[in-house]
Amino acid sequence: MTEQTIESVSHENRIFPPPPEFAARARIGSREEYERLYRESIENPEAFWLARAAELTWAKPPTRAIHWNPPEARFFEDGELNVSVNCLDRHVEAGLGDRVAILWEGEPGEVRRVTYRELLEEVSRLANLLRSLGAKPGDRVGIYMGMVPEVAVAMLACARLGLVHTVIFGGFAADAIRDRLNDAGARFVITQDGAHRRGKILPLKPQVDQALTAVPSVEKVIVLERTRQPIDWVEGRDLAWHEHVGAQSSDAAPAIVSAEHPLFILYTSGTTGKPKGVLHTSAGYLLGTSLTARYVFDLRDDDIYWCTADVGWITGHSYIVYGPLSNAATVLMYEGAPNQPDEGRFWDIVQRHRVTILYTAPTAIRQFIRWGDEHPKKRDLSSLRLLGSVGEPINPEAWVWYHEVIGGGRCPIVDTWWQTETGAIMMSPLPGAIATKPGSCCVPFFGVVPKIVDERGHEVPAGSGGFLVIEQPWPSMLRTVYGDEKRFRESYFGAYPGRYFTGDGARRDEDGYFWVMGRVDDVVNVSGHRLGTAEIESSLVAHPDVAEAAVVGRPDELKGQALVAFVTLKEHAEPSPELAAKLSEHVANDIGRFARPEEIRFAPVLPKTRSGKIMRRILKSLADNRVPEGDVTTLEDPSVLNALLGK
Ligand code: WT7
Repeated sequence: MTEQTIESVSHENRIFPPPPEFAARARIGSREEYERLYRESIENPEAFWLARAAELTWAKPPTRAIHWNPPEARFFEDGELNVSVNCLDRHVEAGLGDRVAILWEGEPGEVRRVTYRELLEEVSRLANLLRSLGAKPGDRVGIYMGMVPEVAVAMLACARLGLVHTVIFGGFAADAIRDRLNDAGARFVITQDGAHRRGKILPLKPQVDQALTAVPSVEKVIVLERTRQPIDWVEGRDLAWHEHVGAQSSDAAPAIVSAEHPLFILYTSGTTGKPKGVLHTSAGYLLGTSLTARYVFDLRDDDIYWCTADVGWITGHSYIVYGPLSNAATVLMYEGAPNQPDEGRFWDIVQRHRVTILYTAPTAIRQFIRWGDEHPKKRDLSSLRLLGSVGEPINPEAWVWYHEVIGGGRCPIVDTWWQTETGAIMMSPLPGAIATKPGSCCVPFFGVVPKIVDERGHEVPAGSGGFLVIEQPWPSMLRTVYGDEKRFRESYFGAYPGRYFTGDGARRDEDGYFWVMGRVDDVVNVSGHRLGTAEIESSLVAHPDVAEAAVVGRPDELKGQALVAFVTLKEHAEPSPELAAKLSEHVANDIGRFARPEEIRFAPVLPKTRSGKIMRRILKSLADNRVPEGDVTTLEDPSVLNALLGK
């Protein structure tokens, strides 16, 4: 099927019921069963969550589930446990020590199978090293690594000691690393020499070295050897993983922490320049990711489950590490690019390892469509039984292509809506129970109460668009913005007191299905990742030639949105294509290549309101080569519009 024929398919009202064979074996096999559990979860959440919590392994089981004094949420607060014990020890004790936890494929082609026993041993060794360096519960640890099994080891070793990890995506550059480590006040960093990416070595340690020239809190850096290119070494600060971890005992007593002990901080973009350190805590996050992984992906013992996200994003945290490992699943992890050595790499991996569940992003699916059907068609994808999508609304054409070409028309698709802040999947079909509609994330998960409201917070009728809010607390919700409680309250609970505001626009149809339309704030979604335009703007204005900058998103077939930067130069500087390229490069060096503006447009002035606020609506139209419509009377200087239009 080609792109053209997909586009002509009438998809608006297509419904795909769960295939009967799938439903017959599913954990939740009917709409009625879903509804019964859902009702129970919202009518009596205290009892529902307490009963569910009993599935975890506790040092001290909780006697109550929910404390909710909005926006303050606590779950299972008198309980005590250790997250790594729930992901490792209890499976080994249950006789699953020889089961493969991580089935890893390096980009150059090596395959490693790390069993639950081996993973527990390596986690314990690294934990012992960290303990010997003086790490104490609550200390923050930066993790800047590629997609290797050791990144999961690093996260779980932190969890074992009650340390708070902050994983920094390997695509971030030195300045972004520096800001995050400083905000977190990290004492330790775990990194690697480099990662294999698209046939080349992506240097990681050098970025850390550069960042650490301005991070006084970091004492030690543990360095895994992966790519073996020469790197600088700071004696007394840097420790080689193979030398120091290998020397430790493979037995490490877990730190027993309270249910609300912080587990990790993950930075995400907001509407102001500074990224927000989203803080997740232990038991609620663990339970939320564990249950959603089990029911949304319908996990079974013999599944080979592959989530293609990078562990540096929340999807990797929740659905490569904590969710699947707490279920004793076998997780496939791939180090490299999807087009290395050619555009068929993903399908080779599916065929080679008999992958049964594939969880990826719409931007990747659109890329596969572009690369052509011959790549998946040449491979045997018959092992697949379930497909997932996350990161942005999936366009129905891409959904249908995914369903037919990858899923062979036989695999249900779970379109999962959630956020860094929600920790776990909030809306999704349950694949054996809920009929799917292409482009809809369908129905709320247990305990989730989504509402579509207008500006004043009143629910809008079915079929109308509005703002997506969540009414009740859920176990895996963020607890605060690290070091900035005020920002937490304002960003998420300021608009609608007592209710969590997602920042997304959405609608609910007559069947009660949700359709998320995207962000309503100054945040863009590029390749399935939220980027705050403000952070990119502040990088641009840090350049000596730039006076002012405004960044907006423009619809992009591949990435979802592409970044367009409007830049006003200082008196001394002249617009030129060379300078435009230089400015894009400047952002790439500062923040990372994925944040690089696709286009720089020089503008003599930016359109502003009388109060000095940049009118992004106008810039968005211009970026998309449309003439701005709507009210422009609030423009401080109406002639600006003509200048921008080149008139
Ligand atoms: C934003 C969250 C959740 C992990 C990846 C991104 C958008 C995410 C969907 C979906 C429509 C989606 C939303 C959301 N989004 N999944 N299935 N359908 N939109 O995490 O960087 O925190 O971004 O991604 O706009 O608010 P994130």
